[in-house]
Amino acid sequence: METLRTNDVKVAATYLRAGKLVAFPTETVYGLGAHAFDSHAVARIFEAKGRPADNPLIVHVAEYAALSPLVAAIPTDAKTILSTFAPGSISVILPRHPDVPSIVSGGLDTLAVRIPSHPIAQAFLRETALPVAAPSANSSGRPSPTTWEAVAEDLDGRIDCILQGPPSDVGIESTVVDCTGPWPVILRAGSVTLADLQCVVPTTQFADTKASDANKRSPGTRYRHYAPTAYVYLVDSMNDIADTVQAGYIGLEAFNIEHPFQLVAQCTSLEDYSHRLFAFFRACDRAGIRTIYCQRVPDVGLGRALMDRIGRAAQASSGSR
Ligand code: TXA
Ligand code: MG
Repeated sequence: METLRTNDVKVAATYLRAGKLVAFPTETVYGLGAHAFDSHAVARIFEAKGRPADNPLIVHVAEYAALSPLVAAIPTDAKTILSTFAPGSISVILPRHPDVPSIVSGGLDTLAVRIPSHPIAQAFLRETALPVAAPSANSSGRPSPTTWEAVAEDLDGRIDCILQGPPSDVGIESTVVDCTGPWPVILRAGSVTLADLQCVVPTTQFADTKASDANKRSPGTRYRHYAPTAYVYLVDSMNDIADTVQAGYIGLEAFNIEHPFQLVAQCTSLEDYSHRLFAFFRACDRAGIRTIYCQRVPDVGLGRALMDRIGRAAQASSGSR
């Protein structure tokens, strides 16, 4: 299959309306979209990514009014969260409308929905005038793509179209909040933080990852995630790094010239760290780097989301070798 690359939102929307797979930019990461009511097209998403069938997808729409055919109800807390943070980097889990094919939500009776704010995502969704089911546009288990080139690296020849845009600003995936229970529960940390959410709904909590039902609630957390080919290590400071042969370093601490890393990303803020993380993982793999050191940051705010992604990548590299 040839994968069309285009800057033209209209062309990309025509592809999507014809039941094809279209990767598109959002402010978090690039998504791989299909018409959410077309089970055949949605099945092709799972095939193209090599994604387990029980890992549910997020459905994207341009505006709040477009949610009604997708969900059976929007509880008060979800309304508050959406009216405060959407359009933006947040996904909200609601009861699934019975008309939405269950393949979209991996068989669950809930559905994650998101209203991205990126102008190209907005224009694309408006042009399709359809709800678009879209996971991150990477091969399953690889770091999420923050550029269209990263999408092409994983999925060229496996999808129909890439809508080209600039690199994603945020760089890590949306905050996922389950609003189907008695209080909102964060299943995946993101740039909308616990403190942000508690400002509008004070009862919001993180999921208890040790609780027996945590896996059931967030199926994605069961799978290998965000992992480059290289080993990933979390380090508290440069002093913890012994071996710099074929190694990369990303963090906030100033680069020490005594460490001749092959690749270095010295980030200026937590936002910059998030923005660059997945692209850095991919650059390290392309450079044949064997070890990536990531500097630990405090596990709060955006730091929590960063530590979650890096922690999973580190776990995947220790678990798979
Ligand atoms: O920023 C993002 O969220 C990007 C862009 C493209 O929107 N999308 C994204 O999708 O990261 P994906 O499929 O890579 O991650 C979605 C996560 C998975 O961990 C999945 O298990 C979880 O959300 N999820 C989706 N629907 C769910 C549901 N109904 N119940 C529990 N978890 C759900
Ligand atoms: Mg993903």
